[in-house]
Amino acid sequence: MVLIAPSVLSANQMNIRECIRAIEEGGADLIHVDAIDGVFAPNIGFAPKFVDDLSRETRLEIDVHLMFYNPLRYTLAYAKAGARMISAHTEVLTDVLGRHFIAIAKEFGFKAGFALKPFTEPPPWLFDCLIDADYIVPMSVEPGFSGQKFIPQTFKNIQLFQEHRKKNRLNFKIEADGGVTQDNARMLVESGVDILVAGASVFNSDDIKGAISSLKRCAQI
Ligand code: DX5
Ligand code: ZN
Repeated sequence: MVLIAPSVLSANQMNIRECIRAIEEGGADLIHVDAIDGVFAPNIGFAPKFVDDLSRETRLEIDVHLMFYNPLRYTLAYAKAGARMISAHTEVLTDVLGRHFIAIAKEFGFKAGFALKPFTEPPPWLFDCLIDADYIVPMSVEPGFSGQKFIPQTFKNIQLFQEHRKKNRLNFKIEADGGVTQDNARMLVESGVDILVAGASVFNSDDIKGAISSLKRCAQI
């Protein structure tokens, strides 16, 4: 079963409670929260306080995507605030830091993910970490903003991770993030994606509930 994770970066921030209710009623499985430091990516995103408040407002699991130059500096703050899944970018990690990130996840009980920008080649150390990681996020837009167009070259990384997972009988999930719509959902799932993050295609719709159910329908294979 594919999971739908609406990204609150595109939600109307003055209306966040109504947006959360609508995605819950629409059948969302997770909530994707983008944390952006203005250095790794050119925007500023949600602080741990937001995650803390959000975790009291919803029962949906919170998936924090750390677009930070120094993700380990803030990982625990987000975990303590209630993030059940946290991903950090391979571009700013090394083999040692990647292992350290997984160790923190195991100790504090959140799922650990590794994210990559659309044109990043997976570094060799990542494959060792994927034995213990919970998910991978081969991004399909440049990090920072909702509402961008899906970059088709992302299928190369998705395919690579799908093949690696199959060949080595691993269990990590593949999360698609960026430009996911009702038009490409099915192709993504057919390529091995398990989690669809969706910002604009959910929150820019007049019917948030309906947008989620149509995404789910399109993603069925
Ligand atoms: C981009 C973020 C995404 C974004 C997705 O930096 O990581 O999570 O909010 O939004 P859409 O689906 O509109 O591309
Ligand atoms: Zn994201």
